[in-house]
Amino acid sequence: MAGELWEGRFAGGPSEALQALNDSFPFDRRMFRQDIEGSRAHVTMLADVGLLSAGERDEILAALNTVEGEMADGSFVGVTSDEDIHTAVERRVTELAPDAGGKIHTARSRNDQVALDVRMWTREELTDLVPLVARVQQTLARQAADVGEAYLPGYTHLQQAQSVSLAHHLLAHGWALARDIDRMLDCLDRLDVSPLGAGALAGSSLPIDPAQTAAALGFSKPFDNSLDAVSDRDYVAESLFVLSLLGVHLSRIGEELILWASTEFGFVTLDDAFSTGSSMMPQKKNPDIAELARGKAGRLIGHLTGFLTTLKGLPLTYNKDMQEDKEPLFDACDTVRLTLLALDGMLSTLQFNTETMAAQADNPYAAATDLAEYLVQKGLPFRQGHAIVGDLVRRALEGEASLLELVSASPDLGPEAAELLAPGVSVRQRTSPGGGSPAATTVELEAFQAHLRTQSARLTR
Ligand code: ARG
Repeated sequence: MAGELWEGRFAGGPSEALQALNDSFPFDRRMFRQDIEGSRAHVTMLADVGLLSAGERDEILAALNTVEGEMADGSFVGVTSDEDIHTAVERRVTELAPDAGGKIHTARSRNDQVALDVRMWTREELTDLVPLVARVQQTLARQAADVGEAYLPGYTHLQQAQSVSLAHHLLAHGWALARDIDRMLDCLDRLDVSPLGAGALAGSSLPIDPAQTAAALGFSKPFDNSLDAVSDRDYVAESLFVLSLLGVHLSRIGEELILWASTEFGFVTLDDAFSTGSSMMPQKKNPDIAELARGKAGRLIGHLTGFLTTLKGLPLTYNKDMQEDKEPLFDACDTVRLTLLALDGMLSTLQFNTETMAAQADNPYAAATDLAEYLVQKGLPFRQGHAIVGDLVRRALEGEASLLELVSASPDLGPEAAELLAPGVSVRQRTSPGGGSPAATTVELEAFQAHLRTQSARLTR
């Protein structure tokens, strides 16, 4: 052994068991770009405040470039003492620039360093994921436009309720994703504080300038409280929540696709490229992507609850428990990325069987509420209208006559009301703002497209 960054204090080396448990380099090397970027800003600041000479700064910056290259092309050779990305980079920089390298960690701790790296990693990753969510929204908007006036039964309790335009149904998912994007952007706003300069927990006796490094790294401001700066993992928990809720939304889309692709529903046909077969049953075409979208939500929620549990009760400031932030965060981002890409492919190649949908939606019972509302327009209290129609529905279900016949013969309703039961008529009734008729959906689609434009302006700002 040798080469631990803290070896001065220790007479002997770490046990193998400690190293195996303690080492985070196998997973946190993923943050090497952020770690090196943070170090560049740090040494530049150290030189500006007179803690490094310009020559030392340049030596370290050159070494950092070399290390970045080695990490990027895979030629970086780790050693057993490379406990984490921070020790690995510093060890190698010091090999490359033996004298100046010893100064890179001046007025810095791995505690503020890791807080910075994870923040920067999260910032990049969330920023990258937002357009992938927007892509699914665009797919939904394009399909909403393409399916025109197609309609299907809307459901409550998974029982046919009232018919709605298919575009209205698709856009419902688009609006949920709009809130996810809002939350991602909010999260990015709150994350926008640099912890660098907090040191181990209390700042430094040296004349460092946290505002300079914050600005150099693209943060709006430096931390206000050094203890909070190294303890705060809110942005990890928040990101995990935002990604979990996004995952929940994707799981709901997934679940509907699973139902809709079933023989019993038959509302959609999946594209071959986005479905799988069975190793045994030759006739099968399975919605695996949709099932995984549904299943991955469980994994995301697990990461969120696991990490909240890790944080809960931790005393200020840094505790090694906090090293447990990275794997769930990395995995949540990877999971959401893969799910978004696959689900978008599945959605954009869906074939909608609009005749099957319409046949179900034209079920006369789906117009029962319209009949009650017809009676309201004739001046009856809604409750009374509900009772009159309910009575006809019961009698029809008991086999007395068809609902159409009963409505036509009803003194309260009659032939004019019976027209509401004709195919495609009921869905046109719900013209109230934000409602499910094709006419209301046309207005909604415009609003959604306008929202997407404002959103994309927000993303490119
Ligand atoms: N690998 C550590 C982590 O991920 C870095 C911080 C270590 N700090 C310490 N005081 N041991 O949290």
